[in-house]
Amino acid sequence: MKAVIPAAGMGTRFLPATKCSPKELLPVLDKPVIQYVVEEALEPEGVDEAVIIVSKEKPQIEHYFSPAPELEDFLQSKGKDELAKRVQEAGALPVSFANQDEPLGLGHAVLCAADAIDNEPFFVLLGDYFVPSRQMCIDMLEVSRAHNNASVIAVAPAPEDQVSRYGIVGGSCVGCLEGHDASGEQPGAIWKVDTMVEKPKLEDAPSHLYIVGRYLLSPRVMELLKTQTPGAGGEIQLTDAMLRLLDEEEMYALVVDPKQGCDTGTPAAWAATNARMALEHPDTKLAFYEELGDVEL
Ligand code: G1P
Repeated sequence: MKAVIPAAGMGTRFLPATKCSPKELLPVLDKPVIQYVVEEALEPEGVDEAVIIVSKEKPQIEHYFSPAPELEDFLQSKGKDELAKRVQEAGALPVSFANQDEPLGLGHAVLCAADAIDNEPFFVLLGDYFVPSRQMCIDMLEVSRAHNNASVIAVAPAPEDQVSRYGIVGGSCVGCLEGHDASGEQPGAIWKVDTMVEKPKLEDAPSHLYIVGRYLLSPRVMELLKTQTPGAGGEIQLTDAMLRLLDEEEMYALVVDPKQGCDTGTPAAWAATNARMALEHPDTKLAFYEELGDVEL
């Protein structure tokens, strides 16, 4: 099974930093954001490759995931074995690449991986967000297995003033993850989805549950994307193709706690994610507070 990671966007929110280096390579501590996403993508049982959707303006992403034997040799010759190991790991991850020639929307980006998914169910992980515990996709796979391998999307309640920024699902709660005691909009609750809409007005939204950017999808979505017409914002929307899938197949949503993950989609969110990750480990926590000195958070 493959995991598709769209990474062909222009990164306009991070300009000028992204003028000549992709936003996916911005570091969180010592690793680029996209490596966290790739490692998360490879965690569920059965996922053997991450397919990264890139544009030809961003060759650096492919370069990053390529082996660098000369750099490894150099580091080893200096006795920096741990660093050599980290460099080797980044170049050895099972990733492949597909090109998106034009920025026509998320649905179009996902469609660019059609040949790679081999007519199997596949994950989609949006790259502005990563889950350090890597648990979210594992839970989604569990829900899918418990429901005849149906498609599953991760959702969470959105504040009213943010509903129109997201894809919103409608349906009814039908149970919860094993070992949880959750219902309604609580993390762990499972919904059977009966509708969804991309970037609705608040009054048109079928609920407040928004799609957080983790999907486990039936390969049929790829077929539907081939004939998907542009929707919200004039873009080919993944949400619209999933809505058409609902006429043919069951789909479930797993309510998650979005705070399980770290947002890197804006400079402020990215800075907060760096702080959060630094505070999560005793070594970096100490160094982080030392570097802050008198600055108050
Ligand atoms: C995309 C999806 C949307 C989802 C969101 C999550 O929107 O189309 O359904 O809720 O990601 O971040 P975008 O942020 O690309 O506008």
